[in-house]
Formats: sequence, structure tokens, C-alpha cells
Amino acid sequence: MLTAAMTPGSFTTADVRSALSFGTVSMRTYIFSTNAKERFPVSSSFKFGFYDKSCPDAEKIVTSVVEAHFKTNPGIAPGVLRMHFHDCFVEGCDGSVLLHPTASNPQPEKTAIPNLTLRGFEVIDEAKKKLEEACPGIVSCADIIAFAARDSVKVTGGPRYRINSGRRDGRVSLQSEALANIPRPQFNAGQLIENFAAKGLSADDMVALSGAHTFGRSHCKSFAPIRTNDIDAAFAKSVSEVCPNVNVNRTVFLDGSSPNYFDNSYFKNLPAKKGLLPSDENLSLDSRTSSIVVTNANDARKWKKQFVAAIMKMGTTDLKLGSEGEIRRVCSQINAQ
Ligand code: HEM
Repeated sequence: MLTAAMTPGSFTTADVRSALSFGTVSMRTYIFSTNAKERFPVSSSFKFGFYDKSCPDAEKIVTSVVEAHFKTNPGIAPGVLRMHFHDCFVEGCDGSVLLHPTASNPQPEKTAIPNLTLRGFEVIDEAKKKLEEACPGIVSCADIIAFAARDSVKVTGGPRYRINSGRRDGRVSLQSEALANIPRPQFNAGQLIENFAAKGLSADDMVALSGAHTFGRSHCKSFAPIRTNDIDAAFAKSVSEVCPNVNVNRTVFLDGSSPNYFDNSYFKNLPAKKGLLPSDENLSLDSRTSSIVVTNANDARKWKKQFVAAIMKMGTTDLKLGSEGEIRRVCSQINAQ
């Protein structure tokens, strides 16, 4: 299965990103192109349709599992998209967020506070089970998360896009790294810009990706009590009725106007001072990001293009290709050596 181009060190994340050509014009072409595959060949180890020969139904299997779960539990869509983000920001997009504690690694990423509220793991596990039945040992858990995240955007009315695959699964997963790398809801815009820059993502990328808060929910403990400055009074009142303090175990929609729909209303909420998390509202308050928020609020199409470009870029973070990674048999545990 390994080819010369799959050996570690044959190319870097920067090479992959540069080959992906993330200019706006290129992405516009990508979204509306029917032959995107030809336009964005990257390498034999990370490309569109990586499993076309080795497991032709791989992407379809993931899509059918996402669609089936979504019908009974729409919350898996935001859950899985967030999981992809938390996976990529810690040790790269390598499925490290999925690993369970073991005797030799009692505190993997999954035990870090921001990961305790992740949801949708059952989607990844079921897709993996079906993929192992169809083509054992071929499809990585990291790619399953990335495919499922893409499908989650689509089923909620967001843009349709294709992604490269060929990611391999990592063997390192540490709570301390999750805490150090996942941004906090109390961050100001400067801290958010810096956090994303560390992953090679620009302020435009960061704001576009924050648009993922257009669906899903937050637990009270992530933000309560709601801030008193720079907030719409009626919005603050309704939120504090549900979440009076940090100890209340309830949730509030991140975008109360359309909580299950992948639209740009998140960006309209921010200038109206109805951003739930301080980190969201801070994007509207800082001169480095406020104009991006307004552009995304006024032009949903432009934001969706930017979102697709940014999430594809995020999906190339610190890839483990070739023998740098493995194809786990079970997503929650590394293979026995
Ligand atoms: C910019 C920095 C970010 C911060 C500080 C942040 C923080 C948070 C917090 C605190 C929650 C609520 C978790 C809870 O209490 O249940 C949340 C939810 C969520 N985040 Fe983010 N996030 C950020 C960026 C992103 C990005 C880049 C994505 C994806 C591309 C994303 C996707 C989501 C989704 C979809 C939810 C809802 C999850 C659910 O309903 O289960 N976030 N985020």
C-alpha cells in the first residue's frame, strides 16, 4: 500500500497546502467545478478520492452513517464538526481525539475539559465498524472524522465540498496538549488570531471557521454567567434564565435564530450583540476582525466559500502520512505494536 510518495518527510503540511492553492479564485473554481479532482491533485498519499481503488464505497459508507444518525439526533452534526476541529488542533488531524484512556496513557486528549462536551463519537465508531467489514485495515479514523464533518455541514444546509484524504492515525494523545492548543471561550481576538496562526490559519480563516457556531449548543459551564458588557439586554436576560451560573448543567443554542441550520446568521448575531461566547463577540469588537464579521454577515455566499477553503486548510494540519501513522482497527485504541 505504501508508495515512494508516502514515505514520511517526502512532503510537509506546507507543501500540501501550497499545492492545494487556497486563493479565493481557486476555491471558487473548486466549489463549482465538476472536475475538481483534476484541479487539485496533491500527491498519491493525500488527494481527492484516496480510497477510490482500495475501498471504493468508503465515503458513501460514512455519508450514510451520518445521514442515518442525523435523522434521529441532529446534534451529531455540530458535534462531529467540532470534533474535527479539536482533532486537527492537537497533534494534527490524526484521530488522536478518539483515543480512550489506558493504563499506559490514563489522560488522553478526550479527558481534557474542552473535549468532555464533544459528541458524535458513536457516528465515527459505527462508520469504522462498517468500513472494517467492507475493507479491513484501509480507512483511517482521522479520515472518517474529516468525511463525517464535511457531511455534517452538508446535511444542515451548508456548502457541499470534496476533501482530500489519506490521513493516517496517530499514536500520541495527551490531555496536556489539548489544553494547550484548543482555544478558550474567554480568549480575546488577539489570542484567537495567535492560536489559529500557530496552525497556519489566518484571521480570515479563523473568523470563517468560527461561523461553525451557527449551529449546535454550549453548556452553561463554558460561558456562564453571561457577560454584562457589549450584550443585547433581552438576549442576556433570556440566556441567564437558562444559565444563571457555571454550575447549572444545561445548554443554550449558539445561534438561537436557526440552531440546526448552517447559515450565516451567526455573523448577523455578533454586531447585534447576541454572540453567546465571549470569544464570538470579541470578533465583532476588535478592529482586526470586525470588518470580516460584517462581510460574512452581508454575503453568505462569500463566507461559505471562505469556510470551505479554511476547513480544507484546517484539515491538512500536521498530517501524519505514510509510516508516520497507522490505520487503527478500532478508533478508540491504537493498534497493538
Ligand atoms: C475560535 C475559537 C473557538 C472557541 C473559543 C470555541 C469554543 C467553543 C465552545 C466553548 C463551545 C461550547 C462547548 C459546550 O459547552 O458544549 C463550542 C461549540 C462548538 N464549536 Fe467551537 N470554538 C471555536 C472554534 C470553532 C471552530 C473552528 C469550529 C469548527 C470548524 C467550531 C465548532 C463548534 C461547534 C459546531 C460547536 C457546537 C458543538 C455541539 O453542539 O455539540 N468551533 N465551541
